[in-house]
Amino acid sequence: MPRHVLLIGMMGSGKTTTGRELASRLRRVFHDSDADVLARTGLSVPEIFSRFGEPAFRAQERAVLASALACQVPAVIAVAGGAVLDPDSRRRMRQSGVVIWLRSAPSVLIRRVEDGVGRPLLEHDPAGTMRRIYARRRPVYSDLADGLVDVDWASPLLVADRAERLANSLLAVKAP
Ligand code: S3P
Repeated sequence: MPRHVLLIGMMGSGKTTTGRELASRLRRVFHDSDADVLARTGLSVPEIFSRFGEPAFRAQERAVLASALACQVPAVIAVAGGAVLDPDSRRRMRQSGVVIWLRSAPSVLIRRVEDGVGRPLLEHDPAGTMRRIYARRRPVYSDLADGLVDVDWASPLLVADRAERLANSLLAVKAP
């Protein structure tokens, strides 16, 4: 199986920005779950939520992740924040790559996503929702990750430096 580099973490943790930079440094293809959903369906995440509901979005999210993981070319994949909740997706992620958690405190994430624009889950009470989601997902991210990068107070370039070092060391040691 190809050894993908998978970035997981909450909305606002910088998976897309870091993933794009990391892919260019490692000379790998870059996949981003939300962009892949748009490419597959022709609809943005908010459009899918409002027209078909969250379960329909989660099904698309699972499908694009499965297809990115099945790619034979080793890639960097920014995994949408909620995709880790699906047990099959977690199993596939473990099997096909190294998993890096971009960890950030909810208080910082809340400032980063501001009013939740473009993120349907945060339309109402963004701060409270972010804290609730984080409490539920933190143990899942922690259990799934092979390593983590603390992103709070670090510039995007510093986060990319840390992620690159970690990815290279994980790729060197994790058994295929
Ligand atoms: C979600 C995260 C978003 C997007 C959707 C739901 C989540 O992606 O898929 O709004 O459940 O955490 P990012 O993590 O890329 O922001």
